[in-house]
Amino acid sequence: MECYQIEGGIPLRGAVQVSGAKNAVLPIMAAALLTPEPCVIRRVPDLSDVRLMCEILTSLGAQVRLAEGTLTIQAPNLEGHADYKLVRQMRGSFCVLGPLLARLGRAHVSLPGGCVIGSRPIDLHLKGLRALGASIAIERGYVCAEAPRLAGAELFLGGRAGTTVLGTANVMMAATLAKGVTLIESAACEPEVVDLAGFLVAMGAKISGVGSPFLTITGVNELHGAEYEVIPDRIEAATYAIAAAATNGEVAIQNARPDHLHAVVDKLREAGAEVERQGSALLVRRGPRLAPVDVTTQPYAGFPTDVQAQMMVLMTLAPGISIITERVFEARFTHAAELARLGADIVVEGPSAIVKGGLPLSGARVMASDLRASAALVLAGLVAEGPTLVRRIYHLDRGYVSMDEKLRRLGANVQRVPEPPEELELC
Ligand code: EPU
Repeated sequence: MECYQIEGGIPLRGAVQVSGAKNAVLPIMAAALLTPEPCVIRRVPDLSDVRLMCEILTSLGAQVRLAEGTLTIQAPNLEGHADYKLVRQMRGSFCVLGPLLARLGRAHVSLPGGCVIGSRPIDLHLKGLRALGASIAIERGYVCAEAPRLAGAELFLGGRAGTTVLGTANVMMAATLAKGVTLIESAACEPEVVDLAGFLVAMGAKISGVGSPFLTITGVNELHGAEYEVIPDRIEAATYAIAAAATNGEVAIQNARPDHLHAVVDKLREAGAEVERQGSALLVRRGPRLAPVDVTTQPYAGFPTDVQAQMMVLMTLAPGISIITERVFEARFTHAAELARLGADIVVEGPSAIVKGGLPLSGARVMASDLRASAALVLAGLVAEGPTLVRRIYHLDRGYVSMDEKLRRLGANVQRVPEPPEELELC
């Protein structure tokens, strides 16, 4: 295993290129299973999650080739069994269920299991597919779904925490090959869902209402191959924007989609950062002083849960009290205790974290627990005085393309080094 060794205190300066969006490319890869014809996907980020998805598609019988950011997928013959060994490693892989069911009339996909940010149920995915006529049973840890031909239906995908991103993806993909019209109410509006719909339309699907909570999908008999370019990763862009403000630097975040980042930019400005939009780039620098802000995560177009941990780091630097409320996932504060190891004062009370900002951060050994928490620890390490060691960075490699290299190009002192042996944990 490797870790990041960071020597903090250097303001980031320069330009960073945003890679393709992880959460857009994963469902798009699954959608390629809806046709026997070849699909070509461009601007594919080089991430371990993408490589795992390639492995899953291959295990289902697809031919998959990834070279220099371009992915070619062709699935003339498919198996309907997605194995636990692969699916449990990444929840995004569960979105093969809809395409397999639509294409083969049956699917046998492992339940993904919970993860460190919450229990992450799949009831809404199943509700939506049942509404399309699938009979579904859970047997020995697998979702066993059958439907000789799915049929269009009206269905509602709202749940406890609002709608569901991958649930919308699963049902939308299945509905493209259903007989008749499907109306999804309370569909997810995230740019990644819009991107998936764009790919499906390029394959010959009929979808309207994209980007709104009301999707209408008119089923077609078959889809064809397509070429498509994935959107830039708004979460990666937001992470570098916060890093610029946190380190008191000045960074041009290039090749981004500023129109996907309104909620983040709004909070950054409220927190005292200066953010300028220059075409597809965002120029971010710290203003004269940082101010505390209250942030509540919400489905798009609200403040993204995937940026909550990184924003918490910025709030540890703003003198005063910030309240960060997590409304999407019930357990997404594991980074708070690790940030405390660097000297931050954060108290978690139910769904909120109360951050008393303005204390100096000092480097320490910290442990990454999930993807975005890891990014937050790296940002904190960039600010802290002295060396920080962020362990278990395999989480970071799931969602950030060469983060160490990108940060070094901005002047940071970050090295990827072998992880030192575990020390005895004392209690
Ligand atoms: N939910 C249900 N029932 C369901 C599905 C979801 O109650 O059937 C609940 C969840 O427990 C959660 C809320 O609905 O409280 C939202 O979950 P959602 O289904 O939207 O999350 P997801 O689709 O599993 C995707 C991203 C996450 C991102 C969320 C929210 C991918 C591969 N993952 O997950 O990304 O946080 O949407 O925007 O697209 C990340 O990249 O670090 C990450 C976790």
